[in-house]
Amino acid sequence: MSTRPIASAVTMKRDTSHPHALHNSGIVDVVFGENVTVVEPVNLYGCEIGDGCFIGPFVEIQRSVIIGSRSKIQSHSFVCELVEIGEDCFIGHGVMFINDLFDNGGPARGDKDLWRSTSIGDRVSIGSNATVLPVSICNDVVIGAGSVVTKDISEPGVYAGNPARRHNKKAT
Ligand SMILES: CC(C)(COP(=O)(O)OP(=O)(O)OC[C@H]1O[C@@H](n2cnc3c(N)ncnc32)[C@H](O)[C@@H]1OP(=O)(O)O)[C@@H](O)C(=O)NCCC(=O)NCCS
Repeated sequence: MSTRPIASAVTMKRDTSHPHALHNSGIVDVVFGENVTVVEPVNLYGCEIGDGCFIGPFVEIQRSVIIGSRSKIQSHSFVCELVEIGEDCFIGHGVMFINDLFDNGGPARGDKDLWRSTSIGDRVSIGSNATVLPVSICNDVVIGAGSVVTKDISEPGVYAGNPARRHNKKAT
């Protein structure tokens, strides 16, 4: 067995008491409708959550996002700036929305002109662990678990896979 010391243990100056910068997650400047349920911990800021919505734990919803009435955002999902979600939607666990396509070969690094928006219609259900690039999805759509949605969806139905493609079964 090697007796070589682990490099970081010898070279890194250790300070276990606190990091250089520490920010708290929480709920800041959020407009809530009536009868909204939130399971903490969450990080919600500058967004609007409609009547009767459910927001599960470990969800982040960023500034300017609007969530329509009665929609449910399940645990561990990330809803970024420039996303709008309609009414009666179901966003499964660990669904990731994207607004920065790395158009210029890497992250926009704060240049919001490079960000793109996403619009989700009413009665859209998105399966767990799906990734939604900046697209527009019409009403009455089901997205399969683990799918990657790369293009606009303008016909109701079931879509799945990477890239997400239409399946035969219709959304009900
Ligand atoms: C896509 C989905 C809605 C089912 O649609 P369906 O039309 O009933 O699909 P079927 O089960 O009949 O499968 C049809 C084909 O699609 C494939 N398929 C099913 N779900 C898929 C998915 N998520 N991604 C990729 N392919 C999928 C099946 O393997 C099958 O392929 P085959 O024809 O080559 O055998 C469902 O599989 C799904 O992903 N639901 C999401 C559930 C979820 O995440 N819930 C969150 C709360 S727990």
